[in-house]
Amino acid sequence: MKILMIGDVYSSVGREMLQKYLPNIVKEHHIDFVIANVENISHGKGVQHKHYEFMQELGVDVMTSGNHVFKNKGVFEYIDDVPNLLRPVNMGPYVPGVGTNVYTKNGKTIRVTNLIGRVFMDPADNPYQALEEIVAQNTAEIHVVDFHAEASAEKAAIAAYFDGQINALVGTHTHVQTADETILPKGTAFLTDLGMTGCYESIIGAEIEAVIKKERTGLPSRFEPAEGKGQLCGAVIEIGTNNQTLGIERIFLKE
Ligand SMILES: [Fe+2]
Ligand SMILES: [Fe+2]
Repeated sequence: MKILMIGDVYSSVGREMLQKYLPNIVKEHHIDFVIANVENISHGKGVQHKHYEFMQELGVDVMTSGNHVFKNKGVFEYIDDVPNLLRPVNMGPYVPGVGTNVYTKNGKTIRVTNLIGRVFMDPADNPYQALEEIVAQNTAEIHVVDFHAEASAEKAAIAAYFDGQINALVGTHTHVQTADETILPKGTAFLTDLGMTGCYESIIGAEIEAVIKKERTGLPSRFEPAEGKGQLCGAVIEIGTNNQTLGIERIFLKE
């Protein structure tokens, strides 16, 4: 079983990158199951229903998200009706949607869990407590986690703590792919951040000039998605017949 996890899909350039290259990646790597983080899919923030449908049509099995998932109000109208769009499980008890679910594909049960970090992020419930509860109750054969967090140490620590209890933990949110993919000592695949699927010539997906203006002057500045050539970021997790993790291979495709 091969699971492809794709990093934050950002606006139209990110969607086009998937449309152009996903079918080939799936074919070449013999991918069974596709997970993509969609928190930035609609104009850089949020998940409009038409873009959820777009991903469904592309054959994406599960969509994870993060801090931007509710920035586009349209999502409130449908998130409770779709079992394959996750929001971070530890966002607190009062937000709609779910953060973990089990799916069946090619004869395997696969749990996907979406968590959010707490370092340099908005307040959230304890991600360790949330994942401990899920792991304790889990009956699925395979379990992979998207940990949406800013700080690399926070991601490495939680991966080390859950090593051997889950098949993989990969980070999202920074939009910058790290090169530290590894199998931890007890068998969990780990990568600090998958990176972004969107415009290459940008500041993490947004137009460069607007970000510079805000950083340099401190004045309010409206960030628009950058236009131009794209990149596609992700990783392939390989799972063996008795559900052990065999490997993790990073994907960075630049036009
Ligand atoms: Fe993001
Ligand atoms: Fe994020």
